[in-house]
Amino acid sequence: MIAKLSTPRATLSLIVLLVWAVMVSAMKKEDFKTCSQSGFCQRNRAYADEVLSHGNDFYSPYTLLQDTIQFNQDNTKGSHIKADIENTDTKVIFTLDVTLLQDNTARVQVNEKSPLRPRYADHARYTLQQDPTAVNPLKLDKNTKTGAVTLTLDDSRKLVITSQPFKMDFMVNDVPIISLNDRGFFNFEHLRTKDTHTPKMIKQTNSEGVMEEKEAESEGSMWEETFKTWTDPKPNGPESIGLDISFHGFSHVYGIPEHASSLSLKETRGGDNAYTDPYRLYNTDVFEYALDSPTSLYGAVPFMIAHRKDISAGVFWMNPSETWVDITKDRSDQKNGIHKILDFGKKGGDGDRTTTQTHWISEAGVLDLFVFFGPTVKDVLRQYTGLTGAPAMPQMFAIGYHQCRWNYINEKDVLDVDSKFDDNDFPYDVIWLDIEYTDEKKYFTWDQAKFPNPIDMEMKLDHKGRQLVVIIDPHIKRAHNYRTCDEAIKEKHFVQQPSGGDYEAWCWPGQSSWIDFFNPNAREWWKKQLSFEKFDGTRENVHLWNDMNEPAIFNGPEITMQKEMIHHDNWEHRVLHNLYSLLSHGTSSDGMRERTSIQKRPFVLARGFYSGVQRYGPVWTGDNMANWESLTYSNPMVLTNGMGGVPFSGSDIPGFFNNPSSELLVRWYQNGIFHPFFRGHAHIDTKRREPYLVDEPYRTITRAAIRQRYALLPYWYTLFYNTYQDGTPISRPMFVEFPQDENLFATEDQFMVGEAIMVKPVTAEGATTTDVYFAGDQPWYDMETHERTLHTGFKTVDAPLEKIPVYYRGGFIIPRRERIRRSSSAMKLDPFTLVIALDRKSNAQGTLYIDDGETYDFQQGSYAHTAFNYNRGTLSCASLHHDLNSSSATTFAEAMKQLRIERIHILGIKKTPSRIQLVSDNNEAHSLAFDYDDTKASLTIRDPAASVTQCGWSIVVE
Ligand code: GLC
Repeated sequence: MIAKLSTPRATLSLIVLLVWAVMVSAMKKEDFKTCSQSGFCQRNRAYADEVLSHGNDFYSPYTLLQDTIQFNQDNTKGSHIKADIENTDTKVIFTLDVTLLQDNTARVQVNEKSPLRPRYADHARYTLQQDPTAVNPLKLDKNTKTGAVTLTLDDSRKLVITSQPFKMDFMVNDVPIISLNDRGFFNFEHLRTKDTHTPKMIKQTNSEGVMEEKEAESEGSMWEETFKTWTDPKPNGPESIGLDISFHGFSHVYGIPEHASSLSLKETRGGDNAYTDPYRLYNTDVFEYALDSPTSLYGAVPFMIAHRKDISAGVFWMNPSETWVDITKDRSDQKNGIHKILDFGKKGGDGDRTTTQTHWISEAGVLDLFVFFGPTVKDVLRQYTGLTGAPAMPQMFAIGYHQCRWNYINEKDVLDVDSKFDDNDFPYDVIWLDIEYTDEKKYFTWDQAKFPNPIDMEMKLDHKGRQLVVIIDPHIKRAHNYRTCDEAIKEKHFVQQPSGGDYEAWCWPGQSSWIDFFNPNAREWWKKQLSFEKFDGTRENVHLWNDMNEPAIFNGPEITMQKEMIHHDNWEHRVLHNLYSLLSHGTSSDGMRERTSIQKRPFVLARGFYSGVQRYGPVWTGDNMANWESLTYSNPMVLTNGMGGVPFSGSDIPGFFNNPSSELLVRWYQNGIFHPFFRGHAHIDTKRREPYLVDEPYRTITRAAIRQRYALLPYWYTLFYNTYQDGTPISRPMFVEFPQDENLFATEDQFMVGEAIMVKPVTAEGATTTDVYFAGDQPWYDMETHERTLHTGFKTVDAPLEKIPVYYRGGFIIPRRERIRRSSSAMKLDPFTLVIALDRKSNAQGTLYIDDGETYDFQQGSYAHTAFNYNRGTLSCASLHHDLNSSSATTFAEAMKQLRIERIHILGIKKTPSRIQLVSDNNEAHSLAFDYDDTKASLTIRDPAASVTQCGWSIVVE
């Protein structure tokens, strides 16, 4: 394709691409720092080592000053415990502020009391959805002898603050589940000037056997730091924060995306199969990223969940600067004797004596930590998303299939691909345009030669109910007579250099500058750029893709921005790096929402992300490879995103770089239909691979997989509504549904979609069978054949290429739509099929959520939320609407009453019924036709025509 480019502009594109290719293809692991190359990480690890080397003789220098403890009780704002903490070595004073928040959450904040200059503490207003609601403790006790303060939340939960040394324990039934500074790694580097700094000296014997004193190695990185050809001038010197957080009695911790790592996080300092570096959270564009690695990727969510059989708990380390997290497991926990007091072996105790010890290290800012008491994983996720925001409810099209490629080259190409989907009977909803649609990568412009009439093209797509997504990155080409650039320069919307003047570096357009989304004027301006007036050639069915928002900078250190660059209000990039991704995504999302008079739910995909991203839109796992290992890792990565409060994610299908085999392509689609974000994408150098292009039998099999996704859209949409309400991941680890089954605590190759569907994707080349773990004590039903299994534990099942091992869970009712059409919008008024997968007692329940699929009217009550219940042979429904009798609820239900059930499959029904009747709300009954298959114990009821928005009817199976 590159060879065909011939105009001068095309030549420029080619040059940029070549430069990028040369730069990034030379990129290796060595291009990204290890902990030992990152000064503050190395210093804090060294501090931890020193602490450990003293064994029981170590005494943390941080002491709570007892006479400063204040308890401010306020019935409207909740209570604060405030106190000063002294570092008894340096005499520097810190402020501690502990608040109890609603929903079993506590917040701990520590800052310097009188810093040389303010430390960055402005992160909360971008990260949190709103100010958290503080509550009063049930009781507050101060032990006058020891100075310990105990805050009692309720009958079982307490928080104990110990003074000397400073330590905090979060207790359940008088046993700590989480402790802070339990191991004494707390280390808050106060701001200082170089001339007042006393370097740390160590004594060591030189080669001649003479004892000499020299500066500790950690001193070397305090005032300047060099990595490869980069020197970070560090004008503010050292300012890091380190703290150990112990999870007592927990063998497994999860979350802190984004890494290409396992679901259950690995140890990072010793232990079986351990990494040697901590997990890193520093948004970067890592070319051909390594799998099974703690290296940071595009996104960073410093939120971790610990789970054991009887309880789950979590922590959110709200700090957007570069962060590293060490994980070790203490399998005896002798030090605390915790195993003696935990409820092991008794009901609810899991007999696990492991304590997972974590060490969190951030480069700058303040300590701002939330602890979530759970007690279930779902509770922890609700508590976390209660603070950082509910996952956005997407438009219906957003959960259909997306077809992307770098690049569809012109309007004809776009429309051609569009019609080939129809010709080949593949449903899809969205086609995407990558960077080449622009005029020389000048965002908000179109390449006139290739896209002379974008509006016409968009209208043609719209006519079929389809959408277009275009890419807009946060770097702006430095070019004359380019309105966007001219305005941004004039109005000072770009990130600045420390010496003044716009920061300039390289990205896709060549020389570029980066929008400073921390500047409120820049945010307002950016939103306006997305309006129809400014962004010519776009109409309502055009949506957005924000890429490279880590920000990716080809000639920057670690492919990102130098830390000394300056944002609004004079903050260094260092202190807020990971927030940049969130603000760019959020601003775009707000802009897209505001562009129409009747606001529609925006669709903006981003690559870089931070806590809170769930409020704005989906993310994906970036530039993966078309190989089996990458397919395998897409599952723990997407599951971990869900555990990090980011439910809407997926991977590039079937791998971005390189050409997939047909078998890999099929297996990746079969897997990808069970990820919330479902998009095919390809690098510019790859062969065309739209799913209809692959040979038979692969084409038919891939079509069947995509159609399966469309058949399940009602179920997916309902799950998106559930996560919007409580943050529970959509594609979720097995243990979220089976929290007592320890065999599942590390399972990542098999997962649940919602509560009712389990999938074991085949990710091995040439496989014709696979081992599925059947959890729980209820039956499972093969989604395709409806065959029932009562097996518990592992079972080898057939999995030839055309087979996706996917099962309905007994006890659940799953809504489907079986009339697959070209796009989700074409299926909007289609009737439903209900699959009733019976449990051992022949009962089942499920829900269905419906709204207009695009606007915010659902927030005003225009929706139907229906619970189906099958009990003792009777199917009935009831509304779950929060305000059932409101006019918006009844108007919606009435307008949509024609949405009916056209078929019901009851799986696991033991005998053929004698009669099936539909009984209406005025007690009129009429018989329904049915078929019974006794080999599968499955019953199909034909066209009961019962409304899904107006309940009152029942279907009685006799
Ligand atoms: C980045 C994105 C990729 C995109 C490319 C060109 O590599 O991750 O998806 O195709 O940029 O925009």
